[in-house]
Parts: sequence; C-alpha cells; structure tokens
Amino acid sequence: SDLDSFVAGLPKAELHLHIEGSLEPEQMFEFARRNRIDIPFASVEEVRAAYSFSRLQDFLDIYYQGANVLRTEEDFRDLARAYFARAAADNVRHAEIFFDPQTHTARGIPFGVVADGLLAGMADAQAEHGITSRLILCFLRHLEEADAFETLEQAAPYYDRIAGVGLDSSELGHPPEKFARVFAAARSHGLKLVAHAGEEGPPEYVAQALDLLEIDRLDHGNRSLEDPLLVTRLARSGMTLTVCPLSNLKLCVVEDIRQHPIERMLRLGLRATINSDDPAYFGGYVNDNYRAIAGNGTLSAQDFVTLARHSFLGSFLPDGEVSAHL
Ligand code: ADE
Ligand code: ZN
Repeated sequence: SDLDSFVAGLPKAELHLHIEGSLEPEQMFEFARRNRIDIPFASVEEVRAAYSFSRLQDFLDIYYQGANVLRTEEDFRDLARAYFARAAADNVRHAEIFFDPQTHTARGIPFGVVADGLLAGMADAQAEHGITSRLILCFLRHLEEADAFETLEQAAPYYDRIAGVGLDSSELGHPPEKFARVFAAARSHGLKLVAHAGEEGPPEYVAQALDLLEIDRLDHGNRSLEDPLLVTRLARSGMTLTVCPLSNLKLCVVEDIRQHPIERMLRLGLRATINSDDPAYFGGYVNDNYRAIAGNGTLSAQDFVTLARHSFLGSFLPDGEVSAHL
C-alpha cells in the first residue's frame, strides 16, 4: 500500500536489536561449516520449523543454542555486516545494537574477540552504508550478580567504545533489583543504562528498573500499561520505550497483532519506538515490524513519522546529531 511504502522509506533508528538474534539459518549453516561445528538440524527449513514459541524461555533456549556457531572475530564481524546491510535496506540510519558477551565467554570465546569483531562490522557499516551505530553490552539476568560484575570488568578496555549496558534473558524470577549494584558501577564508568522490563514481567519490574537501576531507556515495557500511575510517570519523564511488535506476537506477549498496544502507547503520550528485537527468529527486520503495525489500519502516516522521530530522540546520539536526523 501507499502507507507501507511511505513507512518503509522513513529514515529511522533501531534501538532494540540483539545482534545474536540476527543470525539467519543460512548463516548458521555457513558458520557451522567453516568452524567445523555440528548443528542439530539437517536443513534451513528444519531450523525455521523449530522457531515456534509459546513464551520467552522457549525462544531463549534455541537462541543460545544458535549462538554456538559464533567462534571467531570474523564471525562476529560478518554477523554485524549482514545485519547492517538489512538495516540499510530498511532506511535505518542509526542502530544501537545489543550483544550478550556471557553467551560467548561461557564457551571460552574471549570478550575481546566478540567486541573487536562487532566493532569492525560497525565500522564497515559506517563506510559502506553511512549507518552510525553504538554497542550496548547486555547482562544475562538468569546468571548471578557476580557474573555480571566479572563481565563489566572484562569490558573495561572497551568503556570508550561501548555506549551502555542492558539487561536481558529470562525476566520472570530475575527482577531488576538483582542488578542494582552492577548498574550503579556501570553508571560510574560513564555508561548509559537500559533494561528489558515488562515484557513478561509485571509492572513492578518496570518500576524497579526506574527506581533501582535508574535506566535511561526502557526495553519493551508493555506491561507498564497495567499501571496508570506508572504510565503517567513514563510519559512525564519522556522515557523511550523500545517496543518490538513481531517479537511480542511470536513470544505470545500479545495474542494477535491487532491487539498490539503500540497505538495505545502513543495515545497515552508515551515515547514508543518500533524495533525488531531478534529479526532472524521473529520473522522480520524493522520495516517488517512497521508494516505489521501499519496493517492494523489504526495508525496514520503522521503517527509513523512520530514513531520514527521517537527512535532518534530516544537514541544515545549527541543532541546535535539527533537534530540532524529530525
Ligand atoms: N534476548 C534476546 N531477545 C530477548 C528478549 N526479547 N527478551 C529477553 N531477552 C532477550
Ligand atoms: Zn530484546
């Protein structure tokens, strides 16, 4: 439709993208072949057939298994390059990408191999597509606080090349309070702070992310809508929410795309953005997510301009660079 092509052409930023979640099945086979690793699938079709989830944990189990093929600096560089080529095609001008170092260091891959590979891919993206980007180190919340502290220490040589830290993986049972001290330490090193909250977890976890982690940006945040006072607080403070429609659908956070709360978020005055989360696993890159919402027929072209504008406003670019994109 006309709206689809208008939305596809909008310059946008992507603020919620797990680089390990951009590993396409074809690339999984390629990395497995060149690293001589066995994978428990016979074909790309078999891999895709396994991507059927009822909840976050179903996805996480298969996502951590997929990451096992990533071994060398070149793997991480190629992974990032492939993502940025897709993003460029969707008119993404800036991306702030998550990585999960603990998924790799736990397998004996040094932190520096992961970080150097991703940073090289980001430099390639700037040169080839003119896309700017930032790196956000996520702590795996199902692991201990001490493991997060160890990871933050491993990152020390990279503090000037990492924009911030985040919190991802299994939300239920792992509230933000578990990481209050490591987030305070990260802040003391000048890092920005973000956290997944209110994806599966209750509104109390969002409140904890605000009060105890003092986050600069909220990842997902869907369940904030259950608490009107929390909504008011998020709206008044201009907090950016990085919302992921196709992820929410595939992980059964919403039953139907027509029930997706992004329209309600906008009408409530929240600074919501549209993002792809783990595009290789959830059926689409950022424009597929915009298109899925456009298909509901409830948002106007002006609403999509607002959403794209929010994506730059919510970025960690310096003010001068943000203005240049608006
Ligand atoms: N890791 C990758 N994607 C995630 C998500 N949507 N929620 C929590 N952890 C994740
Ligand atoms: Zn996520």
